[in-house]
Amino acid sequence: MISISFLNCFFLVFLFLFFSDVHGSYNGLGLKPQMGWNSWNKYACDIDESIILNNAKAIKEEGLLDLGYEYIVMDDCWSKHERNATTGRLEANPDKFPNGIGSMAKKLHDMGFKFGMYSSAGKYTCAGFPGSLNHEQIDADTFADWGVDYLKYDNCFNEGKSGVPLISYERYKRMSDALNKTGRPIFYSLCQWGEDFVWNWGNTIANSWRISGDIFDTFSRKDVRCPCETIECFALQGDHCSVMNIISKASFLSSKAGMNSGWNDLDSLEVGNGGMSFEEYKTHFTMWAILKSPLILGNDVSSMSPMDKLIVSNKELISINQDIGTNPAALIWKKKYGDEYIELFSGRLSNNDWVVAVLNAASEPLKMGIHLSDIFVDALGNAEHDWLATDLWNNNVKLVSDRIRANVASHGVQVWRFQQYKVKNTNDKFFSFNKH
Ligand code: GLA
Repeated sequence: MISISFLNCFFLVFLFLFFSDVHGSYNGLGLKPQMGWNSWNKYACDIDESIILNNAKAIKEEGLLDLGYEYIVMDDCWSKHERNATTGRLEANPDKFPNGIGSMAKKLHDMGFKFGMYSSAGKYTCAGFPGSLNHEQIDADTFADWGVDYLKYDNCFNEGKSGVPLISYERYKRMSDALNKTGRPIFYSLCQWGEDFVWNWGNTIANSWRISGDIFDTFSRKDVRCPCETIECFALQGDHCSVMNIISKASFLSSKAGMNSGWNDLDSLEVGNGGMSFEEYKTHFTMWAILKSPLILGNDVSSMSPMDKLIVSNKELISINQDIGTNPAALIWKKKYGDEYIELFSGRLSNNDWVVAVLNAASEPLKMGIHLSDIFVDALGNAEHDWLATDLWNNNVKLVSDRIRANVASHGVQVWRFQQYKVKNTNDKFFSFNKH
């Protein structure tokens, strides 16, 4: 009898371990892409306490905190030019942060936010302030003392410790270990620009990793400062990378991200900074959302236009981005159209819903029919069903049996949530829809 119940227990434990999610991320954080705000795209080095707190206040007042934008991340240029000569600790620039970083973090926490800090895995940060290379533990301890919940960790002045994946990995792992040693849960966001195949090892030590050089507020303008068009080019990652340049790189990396791994970081958003049209910003936000990039606002939220706010508040796209247990949408095909490309993406969501997007980067509008056999090329059985497709920018619903008609503006995107259509009876409310 005893041995039977022992066996039963053993069996139950086995079943529990087998069916429960025993994976998760390396530190248990970041089961969905992080959302928040970062100071760099709008303010660069021109930051201070009031800019950061005013943006946080605006994010809260505009209802964006409730939508998930929870991390307020202060980027480069916050510190003094020298460490404290006695303690060796980093110190805030007192002109910019007269009350200190800990006090600002507390104010953010009291407002309901989490607080993000910036440093570099180099001798200096990219703007030339002291970096954390060889100071990992003292800096991690300082950040933990200040109540930091997130670290963006850059790649400048790395003293040649890059060019080989293992060397980069070890340099970034030192900070990962130091953060873990503080005992404070700190989301670890690598800003290594996609060097040294970071998508292959970032997940073992961090929660997200940048995959490209710095974003620039332009849709597709080519710039020699961002010389690589795809991930097949591993030369200079550069900066001034357009939205299309970053999408092109990210589209090869969908299989590298997920809940049990971490997230491809396509860089902070430019929505609201004025360099792109409404259509282009919609495309930018849509693609960041469905590729499951972190959604980090990068504008002055206190002066945001209603149209820009509408874009970053799209609940349907946010829920796709934040859908636990699902992976980035995959690039199904990419075809030359005029001077540019059109691209089809699809990806599985919870409950066997799917997200489908057609991106038109060309300079003229596009009309075409997309077949279910293309959309479901990785799950062909699905092409046998009828689907209800909800357009996520205007909410209209279509019944789709074999193909869906796409009408996509130049530099625009059409994106749908597909839900399997089950006819229950002839009174079904969707029954009278035209088939497309
Ligand atoms: C690098 C990073 C940017 C930003 C700046 C700050 O260029 O990639 O995101 O943090 O440094 O100097």
